[in-house]
Amino acid sequence: MMKFSEDFVFGGATAAYQCEGSTRAYGKGKVAWDDYLEKQGRFSADPASDFYHKYPVDLKLCKDFSIKAIRISIAWSRIFPEGKGKINQEGVDFYHRVFQECHKNDVEPYVTLHHFDTPDALHSRGDFLNRETIDAFAKYAEFCFEEYKDEVTYWFTFNEVWPIATNQYIEGTFPPCITYDITKAVQSMHGMMVAHAKAVCAYKAHNYKGYIGIIHSLETKYPLNENDPKDVYAAKKEDVLANQFLLDATFLGYYTDETLNIINELVHLNNGTFEYDPADIEIMKKAAKENDYLGMNHYQSHFIKAYDGENEIHHNGTGEKGTKKFKLKGVGERVFKEGIPTTDWDWLIYPQGMYDMIMRIKKQYPNYKAIYITENGMGYKDDFNNGNIDDSPRIDYIKQHLQWLLKSIEDGANVKGYFVWSLMDVFSWSNGYNKRYGLFYVDYNTQERYPKKSAYWFKRVSETKEV
Ligand code: BG6
Repeated sequence: MMKFSEDFVFGGATAAYQCEGSTRAYGKGKVAWDDYLEKQGRFSADPASDFYHKYPVDLKLCKDFSIKAIRISIAWSRIFPEGKGKINQEGVDFYHRVFQECHKNDVEPYVTLHHFDTPDALHSRGDFLNRETIDAFAKYAEFCFEEYKDEVTYWFTFNEVWPIATNQYIEGTFPPCITYDITKAVQSMHGMMVAHAKAVCAYKAHNYKGYIGIIHSLETKYPLNENDPKDVYAAKKEDVLANQFLLDATFLGYYTDETLNIINELVHLNNGTFEYDPADIEIMKKAAKENDYLGMNHYQSHFIKAYDGENEIHHNGTGEKGTKKFKLKGVGERVFKEGIPTTDWDWLIYPQGMYDMIMRIKKQYPNYKAIYITENGMGYKDDFNNGNIDDSPRIDYIKQHLQWLLKSIEDGANVKGYFVWSLMDVFSWSNGYNKRYGLFYVDYNTQERYPKKSAYWFKRVSETKEV
């Protein structure tokens, strides 16, 4: 039986806003989510999993369960409450304490600079549609690189550029909750890729001892009927919009003609145009050479059918199976496929999609250096059952993905690590607290942590490297 190599990293992932709590304390600046969640009234980001105070407990659990690495994000508005300018020392010191605690427990921190939480001061002025945010991000990144250079070796600029853009401007589930505006989505993705490039170049210019990359959520898009050219083209369009546009920007530093032709066709659906400055391409090309790795989040794949009817998107945010719809006029419709299971939130469980995406990257972008799976896991309605939490479906899900991952390594891909989403339970942005992912169950009333069956299973995998 093939095993993961001894230096393969098994970790757990978190994100600041989803776990820290203390959203309006210790000098933290506002983010758009604060008002949005309050207005919506469905759930609150406070105290979440109270990581702000419980991080020593969570890091000790990592140590006890052989979880050798943790993905943490820095909340930009804890450092710069207004996104730029004045620094909040309490926030700066907090992350020093977290990183030191990581090292005390022999847990390597992999740190993301932006995980869906642009400071509101910048978000309200257009977020990454505004050049001001791009420049502010680069400065914030440079500050963190220098400040934490002795504690952090592994950096990621952004978490999931496409989900940010689609949720903000197409699906409308993230503030500012705009729908069906493909042009804004594309333009903001480009803005984030320029910000990423500026940060990478700044990092490399200082010759720090560490490594840097970006995290994309990559979902494989298959035509529902591969013999129908219309479905094949629909899948291609979805792929370019959600994957290839960003992979080109990351690994080439420019957009290929194929990508640009499809993007222009899609933005035209809104009577829009995709515009960028030639200087953007210069810096993106430079960063493409300097990136050390790609972080790949992967949960699901999509089967796509050609669609030219009216736009119709319905987000399943409740876990009521069968309620999700995604039909984007002129792009495609995501459909369920017989024999392919789904989670309660209608996410298709198709582990081969992870393998296919990795192999595609290897083939299409042979200059990629390494890949980390930075998120993978299963949202599930865990039953607490007096602390005996049997989450076997989650174990099956992770196991199948790890087996396909191993196959990609056997077939020559350079994959260096795997992070389960999530380390402990955290809330889900558009689904709330009901959708749990953690290896450790969080009782949100007491903030006690309880290892689930998956935590024991993952410990064994991490120790034996066998799955
Ligand atoms: C990724 C994000 O999109 O998937 C996480 O990086 C998120 O922040 C995770 O929580 C799971 O998505 P969801 O919508 O089920 O919480």
